[in-house]
Parts: sequence; C-alpha cells; structure tokens
Amino acid sequence: MMTNSDQYYSFWSFGVFFFLSLCPSFGLNIDGTLLLSFKYSVLEDPLSFLDNWDYNDATPCLWTGVTCAPDMFRVISLVLPNSKLIGSILEELGFIQHLHTIDLSNNFLNGTLPVSLLNASELQVLSLSNNAISGELTESIGGLKSLKVLNLSVNAFVGNLPQKLSFLQNIKVVSLSKNLFSGGFQFVEVLDLSSNLLNGALPDNFDGDSLKYLNFSSNKLSGLVSPQFAKKIPANAAIDLSFNSLTGEIPESIDLSNQKTEFFAGNTDLCGKPLKKLCTIPSTPSSPPNITTNPPAIAAIPK
Ligand SMILES: *[C@@H]1O[C@H](CO)[C@@H](O)[C@H](O)[C@H]1NC(C)=O
Ligand SMILES: *[C@@H]1O[C@H](CO)[C@@H](O)[C@H](O)[C@H]1NC(C)=O
Ligand SMILES: *[C@@H]1O[C@H](CO)[C@@H](O)[C@H](O)[C@H]1NC(C)=O
Ligand SMILES: *[C@@H]1O[C@H](CO)[C@@H](O)[C@H](O)[C@H]1NC(C)=O
Ligand SMILES: *[C@@H]1O[C@H](CO)[C@@H](O)[C@H](O)[C@H]1NC(C)=O
Repeated sequence: MMTNSDQYYSFWSFGVFFFLSLCPSFGLNIDGTLLLSFKYSVLEDPLSFLDNWDYNDATPCLWTGVTCAPDMFRVISLVLPNSKLIGSILEELGFIQHLHTIDLSNNFLNGTLPVSLLNASELQVLSLSNNAISGELTESIGGLKSLKVLNLSVNAFVGNLPQKLSFLQNIKVVSLSKNLFSGGFQFVEVLDLSSNLLNGALPDNFDGDSLKYLNFSSNKLSGLVSPQFAKKIPANAAIDLSFNSLTGEIPESIDLSNQKTEFFAGNTDLCGKPLKKLCTIPSTPSSPPNITTNPPAIAAIPK
C-alpha cells in the first residue's frame, strides 16, 4: 500500500495527520455532541444511567437510552423513563435532526419546553409525563408536523391550549391531564377532540368564546353538563357531546338552534329537551358532581 503514490504519502504526512487527529470529525458525531450537552445539564443522575455517555466515543449509539438508525449513526430515539434524572429539557435535544422518539417520563425535569423541540419536524413521540415542566404550550407546537403521541400529563403547564394542537395532522394520542391548563380554547373556532379518551367532567371554566364547532363525541366524559359550561358555549356553535357518559339534565341555556338530537345521543343517563326525553328526577342528581377546575383529562385515542 505504502508503495502506491506520493499522493498517498503526502496525505499521511505528519502535518495532516496531526491536524486530523485534533479535528472533531474524529471525535463524537453531532448527535452525540448534542446529547452530551443534555448530560452536562443534568444536575443529578443517581442511578448513573448517563455514565457511559462518553465524549471519547465516535457515536452515541451504544449509550444507555439512545438508539440510532441502522447504519446511519444518527440518533432516532432517547428513552430514559423512570431514571430519577434531575435537570431540564435542553434546547439541544431539539436539534437532533432525525429524532423521532423522546421518552423522559417519570423524572424530575423542570424548566420550560424549548422552542427548538417544538420545531422538531421528525418527532413522532414526545413523552414527558410526570415531571415538573412548566410554562405555556405555545402555538410553536404546530412545528411538530410528524407528531403522533403527545404525553405531557402530570406537569405544571399553564395557560391556554394552543389552537394548533388540534390541527396536527398525524396526532393520535394527546394526554395533557393533571396540568394547570386553564381557560382552554378561547381563540379556537373549531375544536375536534372526538374519539379520544377525554375523561372527567366538562370544565366549568371552559373558555370557548370563539367556538363555532366543538366535537367531544366518543370520549369518556362524565358528570353533568353544568349550566356554567353551557353558558360558555356561544349561541351559534354546534356542540357534539354524543357517546360519552354524561348524566342529568341538559341545561336550558344551551341554544338549541344549532344542536341536533344526535349531538347528545349515546349518553344513557342524559335527559332533557334536545333529546326529547323528559328528566324523571328533575335537576338534582343523587350525588353532587365532582367540581373540577381543570379541563378534562385528555388521554389516548385514534381518530
Ligand atoms: C429546577 O430544579 C433545580 C433543582 O431542584 C433548581 O435548582 C432549579 O432552580 C429549577 N429550575 C426551575 C426553572 O424551576
Ligand atoms: C425551526 O425549523 C425551521 C426549519 O427547519 C428553521 O428554519 C427555524 O430556524 C427553526 N426555528 C427554531 C426556533 O429552531
Ligand atoms: C363529531 O365526531 C364524530 C366522530 O368523529 C362524527 O361522527 C360526528 O359527525 C361529528 N359531529 C359533528 C357535528 O360533526
Ligand atoms: C368523585 O370524586 C371521588 C373522590 O374524589 C371519587 O371517588 C369518585 O369516583 C368521583 N366521581 C366521579 C363521577 O368522577
Ligand atoms: C402518559 O405517560 C404516563 C407515564 O409514562 C403513562 O402512565 C400514561 O399511560 C401515558 N398516557 C397515555 C395516554 O399514553
């Protein structure tokens, strides 16, 4: 081999060799470098899951919790649930180009969701349930164009739910239960959360000022359709509550001009004018409804 050519020899001349040996392309690849930033931001890792995340590796493909695409050395998933990690979701995670799964649920991560992560166009699963992540979920979430599963339940998110959430084309599972989301959908005109696993009561503080169409059909909503909820539904909005487990009398205050009987169907214990079914025991139910200040817990479900 060495006999081959001067060109070969000059390539391996001392100067070039020395330069290349310092060149980062001989060290950890870009995805590994981005993951290392996350490691360095972790304050505590009591179970030592990140111990083998080593700067001297060429790729992060054998690191705990990390999976690469076959042959590509590009990271496609970061899965470290139940790891007792204390830290935050670093901006750098959003720059891992081909990442399609993040599962860091059940840790102690706090801080906010970086915009870069909401811009990760190949991300399909974002599971950060049961941490202490706070801040608002902004309209930037529209950047998650491939998102199929969003599980942010049990965190400290506040504010309104972003309108763009309901327009993500591939979304199948959305769980936002047990956060501090309030108000909800004040700018949303069309909200179709039908065929999910929305559970709990309809929220009393539902803020649907701009709603024209609300579809909660085929979920697991229970309890009364409270007058407080009914009052927040604009008069000209169509509201489909069919196939849930709602009970009691449909409030008179719901404007019926845009409602049809079938929008209330499939709730065995619902009664009242829209259903043309009289309530035998008027108004008061046997046990008081559970008052929830949060919007319904949103759990799984394909369209
Ligand atoms: C996140 O938790 C750490 C460790 O408990 C704390 O020092 C830091 O202030 C917290 N950051 C935020 C934004 O709450
Ligand atoms: C979001 O992604 C687009 C295109 O991939 C890029 O141009 C833009 O700078 C990104 N924004 C942020 C905040 O990362
Ligand atoms: C609500 O969604 C269900 C299930 O997707 C659908 O069958 C129904 O027609 C929708 N209701 C309205 C009023 O569009
Ligand atoms: C109401 O809350 C109680 C305890 O908080 C619970 O046991 C019960 O199942 C709840 N009922 C409904 C209808 O959610
Ligand atoms: C969300 O994540 C939590 C924690 O991993 C899990 O228990 C729950 O079932 C998930 N919810 C959905 C709808 O997948």
